[in-house]
Amino acid sequence: MSVTVAVLSLKGGVGKSSVTVGLAGAAWQRDRSVLVIDCDPQANSTLCLDVPPHTFTLSDVLADGRPGIASEAIVPSGWGPRVHVIPSEEALAHRDTATMPSSAARLRLSLTGVADRYDLVLLDCPPSLGELTRNALAAADLALIVTEPGFFALRGAQQALRAIEVASTSINLGLRPAGIVVNRVRANLTEHTYRVDELRQAYPNLILDPVIPERTAVQQAQGACVPVQAWPSPGAREITEAFDDLIDALLSAHSRPQTAIIPATREHS
Ligand SMILES: Nc1ncnc2c1ncn2[C@@H]1O[C@H](COP(=O)(O)OP(=O)(O)O)[C@@H](O)[C@H]1O
Ligand SMILES: [Mg+2]
Repeated sequence: MSVTVAVLSLKGGVGKSSVTVGLAGAAWQRDRSVLVIDCDPQANSTLCLDVPPHTFTLSDVLADGRPGIASEAIVPSGWGPRVHVIPSEEALAHRDTATMPSSAARLRLSLTGVADRYDLVLLDCPPSLGELTRNALAAADLALIVTEPGFFALRGAQQALRAIEVASTSINLGLRPAGIVVNRVRANLTEHTYRVDELRQAYPNLILDPVIPERTAVQQAQGACVPVQAWPSPGAREITEAFDDLIDALLSAHSRPQTAIIPATREHS
């Protein structure tokens, strides 16, 4: 069964790209086929996935917009034959504003007959709620929110949940929140433990287990353009286990009936 997951947060630097490539690595390790679509003009996941020189990017796909056109932009990654990428480029930033009411559906349309070829499709979103994120939400089955255990985490999660709720009642009736992944957690920091508890209290059904710890291996593997699952260090093994559990949580969220997922809560508005 194929599942398409949008990885989002309205804040930059919280780990959207790291969670995207971490999940891609978990799929790689299981020998599952995965397509990473880099929806961020900063192109960080494109870089981490060691993509060969290419001429066609997501920017061209969205400019074209024909059904199925995304397949023309797919390139292999440096990670192996089952990990493919639709790369990003700076010019993608020009596609972050709506040109017409239907422009949020362009990515979904371009993926017609394409997404089903993969076990997992991951959409790495930019840190805003612009047209690129709306395109990702329109194309996804599940929306995975990423946050850090900080002061702004609650508000950020709440805004992201509201965006998912809006998308799921307008551009994509099939969209569901997959949950909130808390990233870069330092278990020995009281502040982090406090913020994780705060998030769990606010969203008891949405905070995913386990949280992702902060480990240098994440940055080392990204710098070397390899999956963290292939990085030889104790920290990388911890991260590997965390993403392994996270991919299981995602797959089971996808197979659960619609009603089992709690919709965006409103108690903090
Ligand atoms: N769990 C982690 N442990 C250590 N460093 C991390 C972790 N998650 C992310 N980072 C680092 O934090 C920075 C921002 O992460 P990134 O995934 O690029 O965020 P975003 O995509 O949300 O902007 C990057 O340098 C990344 O390597
Ligand atoms: Mg990013």
